[in-house]
Amino acid sequence: MYHLRRCILALTLSSYFAVALTLSVLPAQRITPTSVTWNKCLDQTDGLDCGTLEVPIDWDDPYGHTIHLHMSRLRSVKTIPLGTLFFDSGNVDRPGSLQCTDGSTFYYRFSPRLRYNFNIVCLDRRGIGGSNPVNCDAALWNEIGSFFPTDQAGFDTLNSWSLKWADSCYERSGLGIGVTDATTAALDWEAVRIAEGESNGDSMMNMFAQGHATNIATRYAELFPEKVRAMVLDSPIDHSLNQSELLRTVSLANEDAILRFTKWCTRHPQCPWQKRGPLNLLEGLVAALNRRPKHEPLCLPEHRGDFPQAGNCRTKVSGHHIIENMVRRLDDPTDEAYQALAQDLAAALDGFPVNLSTPIAVGSDRHFANTATHCADWGTDVKTFEQHRALQELAHEAAPRTLGSASVMRAISMCMNWPYPARNPPRPVDDSRVRLVRHPTLILASAYNPSAPLSWAQSLHRQIPNSKLITTTGKGNPAHHWSQRAQDIVEEYVVKLNIENVELIP
Ligand SMILES: *[C@@H]1O[C@H](CO)[C@@H](O)[C@H](O)[C@H]1NC(C)=O
Ligand SMILES: *[C@@H]1O[C@H](CO)[C@@H](O)[C@H](O)[C@H]1NC(C)=O
Repeated sequence: MYHLRRCILALTLSSYFAVALTLSVLPAQRITPTSVTWNKCLDQTDGLDCGTLEVPIDWDDPYGHTIHLHMSRLRSVKTIPLGTLFFDSGNVDRPGSLQCTDGSTFYYRFSPRLRYNFNIVCLDRRGIGGSNPVNCDAALWNEIGSFFPTDQAGFDTLNSWSLKWADSCYERSGLGIGVTDATTAALDWEAVRIAEGESNGDSMMNMFAQGHATNIATRYAELFPEKVRAMVLDSPIDHSLNQSELLRTVSLANEDAILRFTKWCTRHPQCPWQKRGPLNLLEGLVAALNRRPKHEPLCLPEHRGDFPQAGNCRTKVSGHHIIENMVRRLDDPTDEAYQALAQDLAAALDGFPVNLSTPIAVGSDRHFANTATHCADWGTDVKTFEQHRALQELAHEAAPRTLGSASVMRAISMCMNWPYPARNPPRPVDDSRVRLVRHPTLILASAYNPSAPLSWAQSLHRQIPNSKLITTTGKGNPAHHWSQRAQDIVEEYVVKLNIENVELIP
């Protein structure tokens, strides 16, 4: 049964790859304008609507099955707005549509000037939130042990677990999980742009993308260069890297961020282990927990009012978990965030790593959509323990203290058994297409970004003709979030199409 299913898939896929070759030639003809159905959102923010748009599950089969894309929109109060601004933070923790509605992040992202000039659209990327979410067996996901197996037996366990889990995704989500790549997402953006343009007469695309979403924006610029008015890529991901390079560069950035954090600790009395050699302590803790993952008593199996984390975190905590959860928090480079992290590490050293344990997956967890996206945009050739070990060694070599990026090793391990091959495998930006974009592209980066290395932004800057790279000299992710000056630069650019003549901003 299982093999039969995989054979059928292989057949349908080869036929749609044949069609996919024509993609860059004819995409616009495949998108027939329909309109977005707008309604009030549950969130009562002024000027906010929630909408859905029906699109084909596969743009190569425009009359086949359809799905609904869910989005939100902040309406401009200007009589004739400058157009529609697509915003996607690429934040994997929450569906895109919430980025227009989330009060806590609202003001820094959409200043009054941006809100006045644009209708701002925030779309749930397909696979997540209200857009045909990837659904898999969360209980299976929560059972998995290490993504860093040290022997054949460990690899076999991981492999058979990853196969079972991938099957659960296929059974629960169906065909949609094969079509979660950035090119498809770019076609979705175009469908929304056309649908929005119908009602407000605007026909140009304005994009403000961060992190993983920058991959969608660059694919959009390749497909529809003549439609792009403004494009901001903040802390971009470099889709020209193969999987080993992706792993190596992320691991380097993770390690650099951890080293900067431990150095901060040696200089700040707020760090409880300031005098005890923070880096050595951390290395010792990680090594000990990787040898023997700890049972965290505070991650109780069910909810209890006096323990907020109970029922939410995994009871087993390994060193790789600690590093991965630390790195995520280092996106916030403020002293307060560093201090809180230092305290949680002190508790972990005392035997209570609860605040650095890995959250339990529930429902259609963000990890599921992220995995589907990684398998569609990168996939993996890894099939054997030797290949897996070679990647682990590469990561260890790049990042001897942190032992390499757990999130990329996880994605690789999960994609080993994904039922679909990569639909949009890594390749450089097609400069013959992107060259046709009329205005300069603005690329922003921070010098020290734990999750999106500066080298990625520099590489994209080389790949995109007529792009301008502006680097903030500080830490954090995404770059503009931690720099008012960067926010002003973005605003002036998307509104006026002026880019300040500056390369480094403090
Ligand atoms: C990945 O890319 C790097 C740098 O371009 C190259 O040296 C390496 O051989 C590539 N690895 C694979 C497996 O293709
Ligand atoms: C975990 O974090 C919470 C909230 O920041 C804090 O109140 C609690 O003391 C921490 N628990 C441990 C064991 O570190």
